[in-house]
Amino acid sequence: MTKVFLNGQFVNKEAAMISPMDRGFLFGDGIYEVIPCYDGLPVGLDLHLARMNKGLHEIGIEYTADATQWSSNIEKLISQFSSNSVGVYIHVSRGTDTKRFHAYPKNVKPTVFAYGFEIAPSQSLDRNKVKGFEVITVEDLRWQRCHIKSTSLLGNVMHFQQGQDAQKDEVILYNEKGLITEASACNVFVVKDGLIMTPKLDNQLLPGITRHILLKSLSQAGGFSVSEQDITLAQLETADEVWITSSSKEVGAVVKVDDRIIGDGLPGPVWKAAQTAYNKYKFTL
Ligand code: PDD
Repeated sequence: MTKVFLNGQFVNKEAAMISPMDRGFLFGDGIYEVIPCYDGLPVGLDLHLARMNKGLHEIGIEYTADATQWSSNIEKLISQFSSNSVGVYIHVSRGTDTKRFHAYPKNVKPTVFAYGFEIAPSQSLDRNKVKGFEVITVEDLRWQRCHIKSTSLLGNVMHFQQGQDAQKDEVILYNEKGLITEASACNVFVVKDGLIMTPKLDNQLLPGITRHILLKSLSQAGGFSVSEQDITLAQLETADEVWITSSSKEVGAVVKVDDRIIGDGLPGPVWKAAQTAYNKYKFTL
């Protein structure tokens, strides 16, 4: 039986219980992370924990994820799987209160939960074999603090569902100025004439760890032109390549945006070079 981590203990998944008075349940009041692990090694562990600690601090939850402790927890969680590709989900909610009252309660202990789950293996570099993603574009109707990896994901869930209803894999979001923010569960990159562009970080998008590692990998590898900048819908429409990045997808090549086929309909050459650089450096950054 699979064990999960709950409040300092490893317990059978079916036996893990959280009170309905938990603020994670009542308000989506918490912070989460998803950490990909390949061949027993987490990608960007320190970066994930640092983002989590920053988010917890920003919303006033008194919990600090410790790298040594989480390294050991993650090792235990992933050792239960025969697969070499396992994601670890960590969720820290503000904790269980005695009443439902919006203000942050005092003297409530955060609830800390984590579990492992199988993810797709690290991407193939064969453009004929790798999955090409199809996406639609819609106006971003989420809240204005998308830089916080909050467990209140209803806005993201509703946007993702719009994609599912259109039989697409993801939804690329744009703001009221027609600028790309991110996707419902990924960051976005656009390539035009060899220039790799991605929206600069602000409150409209999550500072993705995959985005960060990819930017660092491209810089370490050298020879790439990269720019963090505004990207208009028009630039997305005329892009040579479009990518979506996340901990579960790595660098995912988009082959169709709305009704437009990107490139020749298969992942492009810059994608291949970028995923290769990402693979080379992902455990070192
Ligand atoms: N999603 N933007 C949003 C809105 C996301 O939810 C995610 C990740 C990303 C990419 O972040 P990272 O590279 O750190 O995974 C960008 C995760 C995987 C999820 O919710 O399951």
